[in-house]
Amino acid sequence: MCGIVGIIGEKGVAPDIIDALRRLEYRGYDSAGIATIENGHLERRRAEGKLRNLESRLLSEPLQGRTGIGHTRWATHGRPIERNAHPHMNGRVSVVHNGIIENFRELKAALEPKGYVFESDTDTEAIVHVITEELDQGATLEQAVKNALSRLHGAFALAIIFAGHDELMFAARQGSPLAIGHGTGEMYLGSDAIALAPFTNAITYLEDGDWAVLRRDGMQIYDRAGARVERPLVKSGASSLLVDKGNHRHFMAKEIYEQPEVISDTLANYIDMTTGTVNFPDLGIDLAKVPWVTLSACGTAYYAGLVAKYWIERYACVPVEIDIASEMRYREPPLGSGGISVFVSQSGETADTLATLRHAKAEGERVVSIVNVRTSTIARESDALLPTLAGPEIGVASTKAFTCQLAVLACLAIALGKARGVITAEAERDLVQALIEVPRHMSTILGNEKQFKAIAHDLSKARDVLYLGRGTSYPLALEGALKLKEISYIHAEGYAAGELKHGPIALIDENVPVIVVAPQDDLFDKTVSNLQEVAARGGQVILVSDAAPEKVGCKLAAHIALPVVSSFTNPLICAVPVQLLAYHTAVVMGTDVDQPRNLAKSVTVE
Ligand code: G6P
Repeated sequence: MCGIVGIIGEKGVAPDIIDALRRLEYRGYDSAGIATIENGHLERRRAEGKLRNLESRLLSEPLQGRTGIGHTRWATHGRPIERNAHPHMNGRVSVVHNGIIENFRELKAALEPKGYVFESDTDTEAIVHVITEELDQGATLEQAVKNALSRLHGAFALAIIFAGHDELMFAARQGSPLAIGHGTGEMYLGSDAIALAPFTNAITYLEDGDWAVLRRDGMQIYDRAGARVERPLVKSGASSLLVDKGNHRHFMAKEIYEQPEVISDTLANYIDMTTGTVNFPDLGIDLAKVPWVTLSACGTAYYAGLVAKYWIERYACVPVEIDIASEMRYREPPLGSGGISVFVSQSGETADTLATLRHAKAEGERVVSIVNVRTSTIARESDALLPTLAGPEIGVASTKAFTCQLAVLACLAIALGKARGVITAEAERDLVQALIEVPRHMSTILGNEKQFKAIAHDLSKARDVLYLGRGTSYPLALEGALKLKEISYIHAEGYAAGELKHGPIALIDENVPVIVVAPQDDLFDKTVSNLQEVAARGGQVILVSDAAPEKVGCKLAAHIALPVVSSFTNPLICAVPVQLLAYHTAVVMGTDVDQPRNLAKSVTVE
């Protein structure tokens, strides 16, 4: 994934930028670049491939500047060639970027006729020209950055330098992480504290919407509205390539907050952002002729598969059979005859999933795995691998791996629908656009953490909690209940809202919180009817929805407002509130959030 570095130093910074970029190599990249201010002018060197290529470039054409930015690029918009490598710049401003600028096409279309010349295929270059346009209109550097940020849609982390302004750098964070490092007479910027570990362990993490002005002797941070804000200075423990918690209390919180970034990274692997189409790898099978899809997994990964059943059946019109792996492996269903079997696993080592995969293989199925650990056994034994790019997931309860699995499965549904002629080019663009917007909407929910803390206090007093949902919200109800019981130890059940009357309604009284996941999709009214049945029996309804609370026509104990998104991407969006509810409840209960009792991250026994 893209890595960002920035240094305002006392001597030439190029060697230290390379050093820091090397520490970001673990994120994966396909080109690299660096820009410094040389006697007032912006100069850059870029190279395809590994950092050593950039280093040899710097040997023959050295840079001496004492202020500079560097980048390892993991291609999203445009091929991994030098022309698309960062930094992007014109004579006045140079930018490195991690994330996706969703509205770059609109920005480009508006800027080009005004004479701003684009030299790359990237979304990032639009930022350079937006800032320049602001400067052309008379803005100061600070104003230009602030105004430009308000014109960008998407998830991003940025480092920006200006010609003629040595010892000055701007940083901005919206969805993608960014750490400021405090040195002695030097300031640093990095995608994480690991990048900055050789220079400093005094770190300030920017929060979403923050932007900062860095000078050699200090920095100021501003929030989205431009108000000066203070962010804590923390001591980072990152002395080696260890994953740390950033400024979060638990890995689980960090992983929940990483979702906008890792979803962008994962989507970029399957989507051509320039054309807005799915660009799916060859699975070695003609997707147009696949008669059915079999899905199998365990735990949270199984719920990702369950969402995919709805997606694949609706958007590709292919029947899907799904079962939890521990059942499917002994059921040994007859497979074969041209189907594909898809196995979903974060670790890639889950014993039951692996056993089911081996059964499918023996039956002659095309075996495809969606796995986070690429070197895992499941990845190795599959005919084709569709990696999730969630990065290391440390918290035992899966969060970011789940939403990345959903992102890949969503692309699989589109790819199948497209191959079979069920999805038109226009429908594909709409679905892809909806996916591209997911990281931004997730950031919006993550920015409203307070409401979850308040509800968590009430949930922590409950003995039982019920989750309800219909359609793709049904697996989300299951996932919400699983998350809550895993880490808070409160008994929770997820139910299809329509099943309420067949049992769980007997449990409802004023002591049972009922969390209803009900985005405004075509099943919304049906779910609301079930919600009213709960309310009529005194149940405490907590509604998770983009609908206004008045729309449900009964008293709610709480309402978690979702952004309005396409019904296709609702499951990705709804995942965040159910994770945050579980997380904050566990924090109130004082449980071991990252390593809950009796649970293991990788279940290698059956
Ligand atoms: C364990 C973990 C869960 C995970 C499940 C499946 O139960 O605690 O978070 O969803 O295993 O693991 P996998 O690695 O196959 O996704």
